[in-house]
Amino acid sequence: MSTHTSGLAIETAGLVKTFGETRAVDGVDLAVSAGTVYGVLGPNGAGKTTTVKMLATLLRPDGGQAHVFGHDVVREADEVRSRVSLTGQYASVDEDLTGTENLVLLGRLLGHGKTAARQRGEQLLEAFGLTDAAAKQVKHYSGGMRRRIDIAASILNTPDLLFLDEPTTGLDPRSRNQVWDIVRAVVAQGTTVLLTTQYLDEADQLASRIAVIDKGRVIAEGTKGELKASVGAGSVHLRLRNADQRPEAERLLRDLLTAEVQLEPDPVALTARLAAAASDTAADHAAKVLGELSRAGITVDSFSLGQPSLDEVFLALTGHDTGQATGDATGTGPDTDTKDEVAA
Ligand SMILES: Nc1ncnc2c1ncn2[C@@H]1O[C@H](COP(=O)(O)OP(=O)(O)OP(=O)(O)O)[C@@H](O)[C@H]1O
Ligand SMILES: [Mg+2]
Repeated sequence: MSTHTSGLAIETAGLVKTFGETRAVDGVDLAVSAGTVYGVLGPNGAGKTTTVKMLATLLRPDGGQAHVFGHDVVREADEVRSRVSLTGQYASVDEDLTGTENLVLLGRLLGHGKTAARQRGEQLLEAFGLTDAAAKQVKHYSGGMRRRIDIAASILNTPDLLFLDEPTTGLDPRSRNQVWDIVRAVVAQGTTVLLTTQYLDEADQLASRIAVIDKGRVIAEGTKGELKASVGAGSVHLRLRNADQRPEAERLLRDLLTAEVQLEPDPVALTARLAAAASDTAADHAAKVLGELSRAGITVDSFSLGQPSLDEVFLALTGHDTGQATGDATGTGPDTDTKDEVAA
């Protein structure tokens, strides 16, 4: 594969990396189209960073093959390096330098002249909302600012392929949104992004295709829609006026939707998971449900339609959850489903 005609930014076949007894990456096949955001989703220790490091030529594979824009990551490592950039899980900028100093220094190292390096630095600091922090030492930056300066550093020269290894882990929702906007802007300029994440909603927000990895293996791959379809069509969430009408509502839902109905801790709330095979849309289901409930004299105070979360996808694929703590600000719970809340 010395000529590159496939339109793939990344292509791996049977990629393996072992550390002693641990098969950190255990036969990974990936195909990432150029110009897209590709999500690699998996829990702690799944093999995400190890995969990225092999693709970025920082680790040598123990088996299989990997090509980046048609170049072999081992035999043609220099060509690969000239086209990729990596923002690591742990930020790589110099803590003792200011934001400006970091970007100017890196710009100079990349061969830009003094003025060009300064201009590019200023431009990126402004684009990333860091102008006010430009003269501050990076060690005094917040986590979100740190992540942004790190991404800025990695796109000083617009790379053809950018690896973002867990770019938002530990960030608050606002900072995560800022990073997401940056990723969208980078892709809009033609860069391919391989993004690793433990956050299901992050892959959902950014990536067009997603590989779910667990214990060094790809356990599912596809578009977001395909992954979700493997679990179900979504859910209908209802809140009733009277708790004592819930058993009847539950019965009705089961009959109508042949769906799994879940009673929520809140005594007036219940959720029906819609089957994957259902040909109607979630909205059709909801309309049917509301009509029947109304005919049965059951008052619905509000309802919402939810897409299945990727968390549910992971559970369905692996039989275990993602192993992440719940109830944090990262939004992996059912409450962050894409819901259209409607007052009935
Ligand atoms: N240098 C190393 N030496 C020994 N074991 C390693 C090394 N790097 C990774 N591993 C092991 O390989 C497995 C995969 O690790 P990796 O860092 O790729 O996971 P990850 O998906 O990036 O996890 P996280 O979400 O925690 O960053 C883990 O079991 C890890 O302990
Ligand atoms: Mg990692």
